[in-house]
Amino acid sequence: MDAETLTRPAVLILLGPPGAGKGTQARMLEDKFGLVQLSTGDLLRAAVAAGTEAGLAAKAVMEAGELVSDEIVIAILRDRMAEPDCTKGVILDGFPRTTVQAKALDDLLATSGQKVSTAISLEVEDAEMVTRISGRYTCAMCGEGYHDTFKIPAVEGKCDNCGGTEFKRRADDNAETVAARLVAYHAQTAPLITYYDAQSVLKRTDAMGQIDDIARDLEEIVGAAMS
Ligand code: AP5
Repeated sequence: MDAETLTRPAVLILLGPPGAGKGTQARMLEDKFGLVQLSTGDLLRAAVAAGTEAGLAAKAVMEAGELVSDEIVIAILRDRMAEPDCTKGVILDGFPRTTVQAKALDDLLATSGQKVSTAISLEVEDAEMVTRISGRYTCAMCGEGYHDTFKIPAVEGKCDNCGGTEFKRRADDNAETVAARLVAYHAQTAPLITYYDAQSVLKRTDAMGQIDDIARDLEEIVGAAMS
């Protein structure tokens, strides 16, 4: 590896269907490796809450469980990646989700001599996803994620991360929308597994186990990618 390659920030991608644990694992990797988690879902939800033009266009599409247009998502991601903290390296959570987005990312990175470091496919079964998503909630203050069964705060009603006592559930976390999101994943996003395999940057990991066991597997993969 040459010196220039060593100094380039890592660009990691977490691929996986809704509920695979992308957000949960991305936040743990962010803490461990000092990377910045970029979730296009979070960026879009912020745009919806702020009532921006992009947010207004995205709202109904997200509530239907379909994919927001490539044009909107690529523009949001490009703007976020231009912010100074991203020079530390990024974990992309929920982007890219189509081949058009993957190519746009390659083009964007190429302008600064960068490439995708590793794309990690979180492999899970569809039936488990419905259980995971229907029990999910997050801290309203810091966004830390929880689950009614699989991840509960150490002190009931109090966020482990910030001590907040308000929690919220997402508008698109209902059985009907989850089914549509899984259809969109298999039709439009799963082909990216082949896309990154062809670039020799794909790693697969079994994401059906316990959160901490999966985190250990991912730390190994990410540690190797950053060394
Ligand atoms: P987005 O916000 O990206 O949602 P998603 O991909 O559907 O993924 P989720 O956030 O639902 O799941 P996750 O994999 O992060 O799982 P989590 O860690 O929370 O996108 C929402 C919408 O925005 C899309 O439908 C689309 O409309 C739009 N959008 C976003 N990006 C887009 C793009 N690039 N292009 C076009 N449109 C876009 O875990 C889920 C739950 O399970 C949690 O409660 C967690 O505690 C629990 N859990 C996690 N791991 C485990 C485990 N191993 N065992 C048990 N429970 C677990």
